[in-house]
Amino acid sequence: MTRIGTPLSPTATKVLFLGAGELGKEVVIELQRFGVEVIACDRYENAPGMQVAHRAHVLDMTDAKALRAIIEAEKPDLIVPEIEAIATDELAAIEAEGLATVIPTARATQLTMDREGIRRLAAETLNLKTSPYAFASDAETLAAEADRIGYPVFVKPVMSSSGKGQSKVDSADEIAAAWDHALTAGRGNQVRVIVEGAVDFDYEITLLTVRHAGGTDFCAPVGHRQESGDYVESWQPQPMSDAALKTAQDMARKVTDDIGGLGVFGVELFVKGDTVWFSEVSPRPHDTGLVTLATQDQSEFALHARAILGLPVDASLLRPGASAVIYGGIDAEGVVFDGVADALTEPGTQLRLFGKPVSYEKRRMGVAIAHAETIEQARAKATRAAAHVKVTLR
Ligand SMILES: Nc1ncnc2c1ncn2[C@@H]1O[C@H](COP(=O)(O)OP(=O)(O)O)[C@@H](O)[C@H]1O
Ligand SMILES: [Mg+2]
Repeated sequence: MTRIGTPLSPTATKVLFLGAGELGKEVVIELQRFGVEVIACDRYENAPGMQVAHRAHVLDMTDAKALRAIIEAEKPDLIVPEIEAIATDELAAIEAEGLATVIPTARATQLTMDREGIRRLAAETLNLKTSPYAFASDAETLAAEADRIGYPVFVKPVMSSSGKGQSKVDSADEIAAAWDHALTAGRGNQVRVIVEGAVDFDYEITLLTVRHAGGTDFCAPVGHRQESGDYVESWQPQPMSDAALKTAQDMARKVTDDIGGLGVFGVELFVKGDTVWFSEVSPRPHDTGLVTLATQDQSEFALHARAILGLPVDASLLRPGASAVIYGGIDAEGVVFDGVADALTEPGTQLRLFGKPVSYEKRRMGVAIAHAETIEQARAKATRAAAHVKVTLR
């Protein structure tokens, strides 16, 4: 698709987003710059991406009928899934009928909505090195598999993201609590979990991998720090040995080639010395990649927009940078952000406030992004900027 029409006219190039959070919002803005007509869908009103799209629809995206009705009414050229909880079988049917192209592919959304699908593909089909793992659908099997793998282990519902229902378990005494915690992300008392041996890594990275019309390109590795399964800080580039970087790129190429399609993928890897473990992959821009807004001429969002439209990309790094997350800290509607001017005093600092209608204590409401001469300076600057922003009531 190298021609682009006029939005809101019969020639429009139309892109429909399933999920319209802060990552989708940035991609929407990039598409708007190309004169693409954008339709944003999410399960609640005024989601960040809806606020910058041409139109929006509120629906339960796990409802196959509702999903099909919107797609048949809107007739988009491209469907861009931004979240995992979607009726992915219906998307596969829609793709098979030729109604629209799913980014990167409908199969990618099916594989990655379930940790079991992507883990088996990576470890058993592609022979990528991963943590030892097993699956369990009851507490007894979980306990037995955790014993076999050896503690500490991570327990994660196969259908979950952003740390929901996840636990790190240090001993057999804590397994029952981990099972109960996993149930909070499941329906009723049913849940299926993956149990993984803990990898003792030196650092973890997201390798942003761009599949575009001209081939596959890699961004410089993004390093990040996670707390309770959620990212709090990221930086780019993460220094790596040549051997580790090459292994990481080989792994990312293997898994993204198998998935296929066009767009940005966030390939999550653990690294110790020259050894690399595959962890998981998102077939879309990655939260830790928000840092690329400061470090690259084409951020991961610009890269995604260009790649899905079949346009040329440039994934190169301009300078070191970092991002630091701003959490809600309070449960409230229509919050106010104080300290914004203070946060932006230092040159080379940017802020994104996502415009989410409701704040929760642990909800990501914004991010501070900075570039500097060194990674350390950038991290300190982004963290300082984020700390200035206070989420308050009127
Ligand atoms: N097997 C593991 N060994 C070590 N750390 C892990 C392991 N699994 C998860 N983690 C830590 O937890 C974080 C979140 O886990 P992840 O599988 O990426 O879940 P999510 O899909 O919620 O992002 C990882 O980025 C990493 O810091
Ligand atoms: Mg992850």
